[in-house]
Amino acid sequence: MNDTILNPHYAELAESYLFSTIARKIAEYRSAHPGAEIIKLGIGDVTTPLVPAVIDAMHRAVDEMGERSTFRGYGPEQGYEFLREAVARGEYAPRSVEISPDEVFISDGSKCDVANFQELFSASVRVAVPDPVYPVYLDSNLMAGRKVEFLPALAENGFQVELPKSPVDVIYLCSPNNPTGTVLTRETLEKFVNYALKNGSVILFDAAYSAYIRDEKLVHSIYEIPGARECAVEFRSFSKTAGFTGVRCAVTVVPKELETLRKMWLRRQSTKFNGVSYVVQRAAEAVYSETGWAQIKSVIDGYMANAAAIRAGLAQCGYTVYGGEHAPYIWWKLPGEEKSFDFFDRLLKSCEVVGTPGSGFGACGEGYFRLTAFGEAAATRRALERIAARLK
Ligand code: MLT
Repeated sequence: MNDTILNPHYAELAESYLFSTIARKIAEYRSAHPGAEIIKLGIGDVTTPLVPAVIDAMHRAVDEMGERSTFRGYGPEQGYEFLREAVARGEYAPRSVEISPDEVFISDGSKCDVANFQELFSASVRVAVPDPVYPVYLDSNLMAGRKVEFLPALAENGFQVELPKSPVDVIYLCSPNNPTGTVLTRETLEKFVNYALKNGSVILFDAAYSAYIRDEKLVHSIYEIPGARECAVEFRSFSKTAGFTGVRCAVTVVPKELETLRKMWLRRQSTKFNGVSYVVQRAAEAVYSETGWAQIKSVIDGYMANAAAIRAGLAQCGYTVYGGEHAPYIWWKLPGEEKSFDFFDRLLKSCEVVGTPGSGFGACGEGYFRLTAFGEAAATRRALERIAARLK
């Protein structure tokens, strides 16, 4: 093969995706230490089984697929109406946000949606990405050959993202933020919405962790901000809300005020994506039943108890920590000058605990380390005991 036929922009990416690098490092350690009891608080993957209401709905849907009269083949491209209605009712109506089912798109994951959405913009758009943040926004734009401006979010200003210094067309925001676990204030979001309206920019708002916000007064959806319907697309996920990381289902909202984008997204999805299975969409619908939501809340409470334990455990050891109050991530400030990837190795070696190096989320993440609250409670406690006893 002639290498000149390849997309040259892949050469601008880090050698491997952040969580693939972490998985490789764990595998290497495991093969060198076969008996190791490694506690993984790295990738934000859930550990609690699906709740009974979801399992019951899945079973019923599986039975329907086994009967000629209720069997389904290809589903509607945008997702079944029953789920799009349930999302509008269950995610948005309780916050007094009016979203119509036509504005809701069902997919197999927010990672794919947030990575694919940039295809709708021209190759020359100017893109801004918070730093630190979920690496998919940057990587997907680098792959498309775009230059990206970073918007620092620093401890000094409560990890509130700063406005772009030069004009940008597309702005990614993530709140509660992955990795800092902090929430953007109403004031910050108003600033961004006003900026976008003034400059004709689009905000791509990743709200994958909104179900973890404990304070009702905090903003859960960008559409709580006046004017956002004219400039923002929102992404939500059943992965973290309802433990669907292995089941796959997510939501993207494109409001009618952005009708050209909405039509383009439908065109893109109907061309390149075949939808989420009927069984999974019925399972997702059950999340919004009264019983389902109560069961899910108690799973989230369990993860947030882990988050509180991690915060308290690290603070007791004298460390500074952020996040973990409205999000399942704890952002640990490393003392001294140690690089976060070196700390990853040291923590693994001394405690057999895995986390995620802050620099994997951007240059401003250097000197920090992310722990997830998605582990099992007992394992999380053991990890903290090891850190207290062995990490020097
Ligand atoms: C993370 O650990 O940052 C997330 O689990 C990654 C993802 O949701 O794709």
